[in-house]
Amino acid sequence: MKVVIDAARCQGHGRCFSLAPAVFGYDELGNGLVLGDGVLDADGLELARLAEANCPEHAISIGES
Ligand code: F3S
Repeated sequence: MKVVIDAARCQGHGRCFSLAPAVFGYDELGNGLVLGDGVLDADGLELARLAEANCPEHAISIGES
């Protein structure tokens, strides 16, 4: 599974990288970004799902890698 952030939707709420710093970071504007290639192991998938559920802009999506 792979996680992506839709940069057009992200408004920098920061819940992704606060809840799951192993999966997400942030850019110079404070907008979330996916670390590395976004491919998730089991732990990463759990964290990414938590972030997905908590992003107010619904900018995070998880799909087949
Ligand atoms: Fe952006 Fe959502 Fe994270 S708005 S900073 S992807 S919590």
